[in-house]
Amino acid sequence: MKKRFYFGSNLKMYKNIKETTSYLKELVDLTGDISREDMTLFIIPSFPTLASASSCIDHSLCLLGAQNMHPAEQGQFTGEVSPLMLQEVGTDLVMIGHSERRHVFGETDPEENAKVLSALSHGFRALLCIGETAEEKAYGISREVLRTQLKIGLHNVNTKDLDRIWIAYEPVWSIGEQGTPASPDYAQEMHRAIRKCLTELFGDRAKDIPCLYGGSVNPQNTDSLIIQPDIDGLFVGRAAWEAQKFNSLIRQAIHTSETFNSGRV
Ligand code: PGA
Repeated sequence: MKKRFYFGSNLKMYKNIKETTSYLKELVDLTGDISREDMTLFIIPSFPTLASASSCIDHSLCLLGAQNMHPAEQGQFTGEVSPLMLQEVGTDLVMIGHSERRHVFGETDPEENAKVLSALSHGFRALLCIGETAEEKAYGISREVLRTQLKIGLHNVNTKDLDRIWIAYEPVWSIGEQGTPASPDYAQEMHRAIRKCLTELFGDRAKDIPCLYGGSVNPQNTDSLIIQPDIDGLFVGRAAWEAQKFNSLIRQAIHTSETFNSGRV
């Protein structure tokens, strides 16, 4: 069976409303001919842009994500955004536990778990981001860290909701300007460990959970990452923030993977 690929970008705290909507329109336009049977595309812009972003795209061509969410529907939580508010503005997925949320804002695994459960119960896809720090890698405990993040983050997830769980593996040391991309072998090893843990948690159905690699993805490492057997897609930051560049990267990845799988490489 042909593999479905996932390509997405978190726009972090960049792009205002005008920039976000013109980026989205251009990206959807450029990628319009790529069958959505073969690929799922998603963009995660900042909160204030969501309503305008939602009305400017066809969600069957590009899903729209939120960068964070409070688990409660309402309450005395100044500065937070609730699932009902995200539903109202047409959000399809919620990113939970991005490295910057965990390491800059101090979010914990139990907090990520509460967000995952709430996102699922409100009908969103939940994109749970996991990844070890450089220090944890140096201690040789990357697998243990990933297993902990998965086991707590996905605690009590009902198997009926599994088709709305996505995982992004983003080693903390690989993200952003100072980051070094993971080698494809290392990324594959970690993705294999993630898949194994998901299978322990959910049995055979875990094979359908998309696992994306993120962290300094660029046109130079796209090919070697996308051909790894346990990598289902790429979660791209800086290299995706111009629509033309992201379009080229997506096409490059799909082409490489198809060529590789047909045995021509
Ligand atoms: P980067 O960001 O590709 O710019 O390293 C990745 C991310 O933070 O998701």
